Amino acid sequence: MNNADSEKKDQDWLVNPTFQSTSQVVRETASRNHESSESIDPSPHMTLDEFLAKNNIQIDSSVKEFCEKGSQFLRNSKDPTHSIDHLERLWGNLDKFHMDAENEGLQIDWNTLTAAISWHDAWRASYFKLSPISLYKSQFQEGSHAANFSSSAMKEAGFDVASINKVVYCILTHPSTWKDDRKTVESRILNDIDELDSWSPERISGIANYLSNPKHVLGKLALTLLKPARNVILSKGSHTYYFASTQKEAQDRYPALEKQVKQFFS
Ligand SMILES: [Fe+2]
Ligand SMILES: [Fe+2]
Repeated sequence: MNNADSEKKDQDWLVNPTFQSTSQVVRETASRNHESSESIDPSPHMTLDEFLAKNNIQIDSSVKEFCEKGSQFLRNSKDPTHSIDHLERLWGNLDKFHMDAENEGLQIDWNTLTAAISWHDAWRASYFKLSPISLYKSQFQEGSHAANFSSSAMKEAGFDVASINKVVYCILTHPSTWKDDRKTVESRILNDIDELDSWSPERISGIANYLSNPKHVLGKLALTLLKPARNVILSKGSHTYYFASTQKEAQDRYPALEKQVKQFFS
């Protein structure tokens, strides 16, 4: 059974799935940890409130409350690369995406998209440990774990089945290990803006700082193990995006970030 199959077998919670289809705030944190990449622009940071207000987008108050609950997991994240900074960069990426003229005609279900973005890494933020089993689960089974986690939370919060299915589908399919085509516009946007953040200088520096910290003995081991995988990591730069605007943004970012990754693994 391949990884995509093992993720798909856990979709019992999907009941009759009917999929439907700046003034950017650059935080100090954006430039704090990337001494080796002065030439790279820091990623835009935003909060959900800032994104909604700036773009005059309304979402249901129950969804807003649910988004806040999901964000709390990232504020208290056990995974340094999936903290609130990651989520704020995603709101910044979404703002850029939304402002791009190429994406003007898209019919976006904002309730679904904001809930999915807020919760897509909540499971990972809660359960992450620097151990081989946790790293394996985070890498290869994230979609189904994250989907089950957010599905339970949505049921508990009283959302209807159709809303749950739409949000959970985006979360299930967000990892790059998902091999099938993503069917909904919201799942495609989440994948694009999330994948784009793999190529943010903050993300790469965050990983480098964490693994190089002498306090993390396992981190040193992980760093040694990752060195032979440098080319595999760099190959993520050839990810195909759904939208031309994110594809272009990734191409613009890639050369400087390739240098940063090579320095890190030298
Ligand atoms: Fe994720
Ligand atoms: Fe993410």
